[in-house]
Amino acid sequence: MQSVRVSDLGKHEGEEVEVRGWLYNKRSSGSIHFLLVRDGSGLVQSVVVKGEVDDAIFQAADKLTQESSVIVRGVVRKDRRAPGGYELGVKDMHVVQVADEYPIALKEHGVDFLLDHRHLWIRTPRQNAILRIRSEVVKACRDFLDDRGFVLLDAPILTPAACEGTTTLFETDYFDTKAYLTQSGQLYMEAGAMAFGKVYCFGPTFRAEKSKTRRHLTEFWMVEPEMAYTELDESMNIQEELVSYVVGRVLERKSPELAVIGRDTGPLARVKPPFPRISYDEAVEILRRHGVDFEWGNDFGGQDETILSNEFDRPVFIHRYPVQCKAFYMKPDPKRPELALCADLLAPEGYGEIIGGGQRIDDPVLLESRIKDNRLPADAYTWYLDLRKYGSVPHSGFGLGIERTVAWICGLDHVRETIPFPRLINRIYP
Ligand code: 4AD
Ligand code: MG
Repeated sequence: MQSVRVSDLGKHEGEEVEVRGWLYNKRSSGSIHFLLVRDGSGLVQSVVVKGEVDDAIFQAADKLTQESSVIVRGVVRKDRRAPGGYELGVKDMHVVQVADEYPIALKEHGVDFLLDHRHLWIRTPRQNAILRIRSEVVKACRDFLDDRGFVLLDAPILTPAACEGTTTLFETDYFDTKAYLTQSGQLYMEAGAMAFGKVYCFGPTFRAEKSKTRRHLTEFWMVEPEMAYTELDESMNIQEELVSYVVGRVLERKSPELAVIGRDTGPLARVKPPFPRISYDEAVEILRRHGVDFEWGNDFGGQDETILSNEFDRPVFIHRYPVQCKAFYMKPDPKRPELALCADLLAPEGYGEIIGGGQRIDDPVLLESRIKDNRLPADAYTWYLDLRKYGSVPHSGFGLGIERTVAWICGLDHVRETIPFPRLINRIYP
């Protein structure tokens, strides 16, 4: 008999099929059991009627516990009221395992309890929907870049040097020396841009973030495109196209998942280029108008970003931050050298930064002095300086954080639900 995924049941109306899954929930009324079976692609109500199946099967259905693994066989029937629109009239059933009492009962649990049981929590429809959306976001980013001639170039995870400041480095022994878990693949992508023109990496990145916020993980995933012969404005054009494309793909392909989460898709439908572009100076003005006592030269904190992103109905770029609050590689604006040619993209609805990027210093002398000023170990950057000696060109790139993007698209209040197994300052289990 044909084994069918629940999501494909609609193609088999009237046929006898088999669904292999787990018992999500059960309702019984004397002579009838309604088994709600999930298989990872959806939920199907499987109806077991006394007299229509062997007595042994009816008894077995009675004893099924939550999350027991079970194979049900029966006829696919259309039923408007059923989740998914189809139900199964069970003729036969094979119990693979009767599960022990399941810790995540179908009621409210505290978030710490759920995170301790993350390996099971991902089975629930809401978490399942979020992670399916994550999968679509990743695929959409890759499709967008692949279709535009970017070459996927994997960056190393073990690195000899910092990219985003030395305070958040995870250090590890590397035989007789030290290594760090990568904070960003950017420096390697700059080498790649000079070799391929347009490249991107997609991988995990690590930051020993000591802050406990709804936006910070210690391990998160980033898509990092880098482009040769590209200035800041052009890089922003690509970012707004990419973000609009990603949101559009989720709206187009994941609307059932968005419905499961209860996401209002109205604000997402407005995500279309062009995005507003404001300068750091203008952003400071906005904050001051909101009564924030903000000192020029500081970086924005989470609350500042929330205020700023609430001002606009679509993502907003903030460009030209003071050089002192950005990384060593940022190119100064020739018109105002105290500002960096950089831009962050803040997601609307209070979500804040989802992309950080900018134009890189292309002058070898300036770059070398910036490395020195930031007290970075010169040896570790010799190769990086080479890129400015051998055919240096204006180039730009950016990093889009997958988890923050998914949190925004799904409308979640914390990034911890957007990654299968979150790593947080106080959590490395499971
Ligand atoms: O702004 P960031 O630090 O930029 C870079 O790392 C650049 N080297 C990227 C580049 O130009 N290639 O980080 C980029 C993005 C942020 O906008 C945010 O979305 C995400 O990475 N991010 C984090 N996400 C979750 N937890 C954290 N601790 C994050 N830190 C950054
Ligand atoms: Mg940033």
